[in-house]
Amino acid sequence: GAPVKADISKLAPGQRMTVEWRGRPVWIINRTPEMIERTESFTAGRLADPDSQASLQPAYSTGQMRSIRPEIGVLIGICTHLGCSPVYRPEPDATGVGVDDWPGGFFCPCHGSRFDLAGRVFSNVPAPTNLEVPPYRFENDNIIVVG
Ligand code: FES
Repeated sequence: GAPVKADISKLAPGQRMTVEWRGRPVWIINRTPEMIERTESFTAGRLADPDSQASLQPAYSTGQMRSIRPEIGVLIGICTHLGCSPVYRPEPDATGVGVDDWPGGFFCPCHGSRFDLAGRVFSNVPAPTNLEVPPYRFENDNIIVVG
């Protein structure tokens, strides 16, 4: 499939947009400094693969935020368990899923898998690995090329 371009110039802080690449949804999230802080300070022990050793991502997706620019997250929006579409729950207190210390992230309604705002999977949920990071690059400050 051809690469896909996403214009993030209107993507407000805290918001997410979706583009389609190779028939799959790709989420682009504009993470605020506070969201980054929350994610980076979350206890690694609560995550199954905090350093993404076992998860799919390009080598240039670095750090805990798993991205080129820490504030811009690029993730395949498909649960790594059985392929459902997780729901965006960016606020720490807006999950409704009964998780203590929820740092904000993504909740899969199918079997309850949870991921943080970097797409890292929690321990003790059905999904085995973090959400996949697709290949991408910045054409300029506002244009991301996925693929
Ligand atoms: Fe997401 Fe099963 S498909 S938890």
